[in-house]
Amino acid sequence: PLVLIGALALGYLLGSIPFGLVLTRSAGLGDIRAIGSGNIGATNVLRTGNKKLAAATLLLDGLKGTVAVLLAAWFGPVAALAAGIGAFIGHVFPIWLGFKGGKGVATFLGVLLAIHWPAFLVFAGLWLAVAYAFRYSSLAALVASAATPVVLLLMGRGWPTVIVFAGLAALLIAKHHQNIAKLLAGTESRIGEKSAAPP
Ligand code: G3P
Repeated sequence: PLVLIGALALGYLLGSIPFGLVLTRSAGLGDIRAIGSGNIGATNVLRTGNKKLAAATLLLDGLKGTVAVLLAAWFGPVAALAAGIGAFIGHVFPIWLGFKGGKGVATFLGVLLAIHWPAFLVFAGLWLAVAYAFRYSSLAALVASAATPVVLLLMGRGWPTVIVFAGLAALLIAKHHQNIAKLLAGTESRIGEKSAAPP
């Protein structure tokens, strides 16, 4: 149990680093939470018009999940899963930002890469296909993350892994409630659209 608590804590600490906020601030773009959707993730960083910064946010928010899992995997597969949960929770509820964090897509993906890379490839493929077809980042993430537990099950992963990803996907979907409302209303912003005002 001590190892699991340690893995959760390590994951949480790494996951709670808000790279989108840190990068945009150090680039002199102000507070990302005052732009577009107000989210701290790569999709919203892209709305500043800075593609490199958005790519770096996606990469770093993902890698913090990957690194947490790989470090904890030293203590076994259960510790690895615990670190993955910790990293995701850390990104979504970071203590540094009053527990108001991101929506978890990049970190979900980074954790998935370290847990089972073939499912990561399916996620990436689904995300790209939906994003290409509809040009909504949120819709692509919702479809790809909802599919992930099913994909893991079909790929023969054990129930603990499937259940953990079902839980993370449920939280990710819940964090997208504003995006879902906008998608249904037809007012969600498309990839490539810049935006200056928060909702
Ligand atoms: O799934 C992408 C999600 O993070 C959407 O971000 O900024 O459009 O709410 P945003």
